[in-house]
Amino acid sequence: MNLDTLKATAEAMTGKGRGILAMDESHGTCNKRFEALGIPTTPEMRREYRTMLVTAPGIGNHFGGAILFDETLRDKTTGGKTFVEVLNAQGIVPGIKVDAGAKDLAFGEEGETVTEGLDGLRERMQEYGKLGARFAKWRAVYRIGEYMPTQAAVSTNAHALARYAAICQENNIVPIVEPEVLINGTHSIEQCYEKTQYVQQAVFAALAEQGVALEGIVLKPSMVISGDKATGRAGVEQVAAMTLRCLLSTVPSSVPGIAFLSGGQSDEEATAHLNAMNKAGPHPWNVTFSYGRALQHAAMTAWAGKKENAEKASNIAGHRAAMNGAAARGKWSAAMEKAA
Ligand code: G3H
Repeated sequence: MNLDTLKATAEAMTGKGRGILAMDESHGTCNKRFEALGIPTTPEMRREYRTMLVTAPGIGNHFGGAILFDETLRDKTTGGKTFVEVLNAQGIVPGIKVDAGAKDLAFGEEGETVTEGLDGLRERMQEYGKLGARFAKWRAVYRIGEYMPTQAAVSTNAHALARYAAICQENNIVPIVEPEVLINGTHSIEQCYEKTQYVQQAVFAALAEQGVALEGIVLKPSMVISGDKATGRAGVEQVAAMTLRCLLSTVPSSVPGIAFLSGGQSDEEATAHLNAMNKAGPHPWNVTFSYGRALQHAAMTAWAGKKENAEKASNIAGHRAAMNGAAARGKWSAAMEKAA
């Protein structure tokens, strides 16, 4: 392991007000989103769509990294260059999703999962490194309920995240450690705080146990937020304050970057929350974004699988990148959205 390499990569991914584009949807997830918009679910359409994203105007100013799915890491854009080349040319570090998805946890509470994919991971990581990936992602998922997440779900997922992170670092690949506490439900923000803190504490204990160097990881957490079906949902300032309080209680200052997932928030909500957190800075870590839906949804809708919409969609993607880049510096305002 070369810690200087890992530190430099993590800083390139999350520093200077730049965030990470999550464009690593598995075929299943991507197909579901395409089908909802009537887009054919073919490799050619995925290539066209993802080419539109990585060639959006100005994204090199706002993205320090982009997470790819296996197919895209090996693929060429419609312009003939590989996705890795197009990203590197813009100073965007290419990364790869390596987990094999969240599967039912035996004897867990309803809907609880454990993320799989450790078998053969060392060999896959070595190959991904050769293909140009300099960081990786593994997502663990936790549901909030009266008895959830159970200790079994918390400790099993923490252990897997930590083993994955150690294998990444052994190969000089920065692990994005992603414990996502789902927004789905009627829970209050206080309940979310308690469960998120519990999950993050377990993750950092497991990382220490596996000897993971915190200076060479990026944490990708969910925000502390009211459930999507809760009544009297907390406002922007409270989400920002409670998320920061939680992170300050669990995340050592040696971690270089925290890049949030959007987790089902609306585009503007995700931007406003990130902005409020950065306005309250400085923090011990870079605080930025690694959104999937909140960066892509509007662009995918505008594109709708039609070549003639590609330029408009690309501009929309570039705009969301710029808005979140501003939020990563605490310089965003709602007026900037309207001015666009
Ligand atoms: O693993 C989840 C994605 O990388 C982030 O997606 O921002 O749509 O929650 P999201």
